[in-house]
Amino acid sequence: MSHDLFEAARAAMEKAHAPYSRFPVGAALRTEDGRVFAGCNIENASFPEGWCAETTALGHYVMGGGGRITEIAVVAEKMDRITPCGGCRQRLAEFAGPEAKLHLCDGNGVVETLTMADILPLGFRGDDLK
Ligand code: THU
Repeated sequence: MSHDLFEAARAAMEKAHAPYSRFPVGAALRTEDGRVFAGCNIENASFPEGWCAETTALGHYVMGGGGRITEIAVVAEKMDRITPCGGCRQRLAEFAGPEAKLHLCDGNGVVETLTMADILPLGFRGDDLK
């Protein structure tokens, strides 16, 4: 059931600190044991120091004990079907396998479901360092 994950992302979006872009974003991750971790974008007066909603969610996920990520939902107030930025694709791929689902949302719910493999083909992986 992905609608609850959308709702977690939307609730996170309400907490966005985005006074500069005025582009609130929310993200939520679910692990295989059912835990949900959400996050919003957090901007800064020194613009490069801000970060994305997906990154906040990953911080909560790591601090919450991690685990296999099965689903991700992302929502933006001003955009239908926001897809994670390039940097967040790489950060998500650190923890979410190629089969993990990515739900793209509008203001009402999930409108399209992709996988991590769809959004980050041929990504650089930790295995490449061995
Ligand atoms: N943003 C996200 O939070 N996630 C994305 O995947 C794309 C962009 C944020 C960063 C910035 O605070 C605002 O959206 C405008 O770029």
